[in-house]
Amino acid sequence: MTETRKGIPGDPELMQFAAESGVSYTPRRDRSITRIMAEEGAAGVIIWKQEGPVLYQGGERFFYHPSMGKNRVSRIRKGQSDPMIEAMGLRKGWEVLDCTLGLGADALVVSFVVGDEGRVLGVESSPITAAVVRWGIKKYPRGPVWLKAAMDRIEIICADHLEVLKELPARSFDIVYFDPMFRHPINSSQAISPLRQLANHRPLSEEAIAEALRVSRSRVVVKERAGSTEFERLGIQQVLTGEHRDIAYGIIEVRPS
Ligand SMILES: C[S@@+](CC[C@H](N)C(=O)[O-])C[C@H]1O[C@@H](n2cnc3c(N)ncnc32)[C@H](O)[C@@H]1O
Repeated sequence: MTETRKGIPGDPELMQFAAESGVSYTPRRDRSITRIMAEEGAAGVIIWKQEGPVLYQGGERFFYHPSMGKNRVSRIRKGQSDPMIEAMGLRKGWEVLDCTLGLGADALVVSFVVGDEGRVLGVESSPITAAVVRWGIKKYPRGPVWLKAAMDRIEIICADHLEVLKELPARSFDIVYFDPMFRHPINSSQAISPLRQLANHRPLSEEAIAEALRVSRSRVVVKERAGSTEFERLGIQQVLTGEHRDIAYGIIEVRPS
């Protein structure tokens, strides 16, 4: 796939983005997106904008936006509970490995709760998703200070989570979290609709769960559709219902060694 971005050739940020996302650069020269795609033979185009990169592909636009994460943080700030945070038993200062970063909404909520003494490391295997979210966060122009601070604390690496988990020392994070693409998608979920074309759809492996249990100090948490057979397949017995009745969080407590 060839992507095209508008920007100044040699702009260090643009060149870094191109290297990270693995896409090639071509000047826009006032061309429409449709024309760029036709002339470059590209399935998608990324436009490099002041407020962050925007991918146009398959009739959809994909760019970083705190959306759902911001709404959830606003509710937490009002003292309301968040089912993912409850499932994690998350506390200020904790270190969390988010193995399926996606758009970073869950990571944003985690980052807000753990605060500046904690840590959130997000792992995403799609290079375009990882780069669009990393640079979208860097260039995000709006919002209150607490929101930007929580976003900026999210560390992002582009890799397969199994490879990352295997390299990590035992008990190096308090929580290891997985939110894989659902085996049976909820089609009404607009929030992740642009992500679907880019995402890694492989099912969560038993090996990844075993490694996560080695790396975690407290819990491994898996988000899935309520009633999913994935929980049983992965040996998860404790399941909490999520923010909507069709979402659930599977919890595996780490046994002290
Ligand atoms: C449902 S989305 C996660 C949404 C995310 N929790 C959020 O709040 O925006 C799943 C993401 O995990 C990524 N993913 C799936 N398998 C992965 C793997 N083995 N390693 C790293 N990322 C993976 C997908 O590419 C996709 O972007």
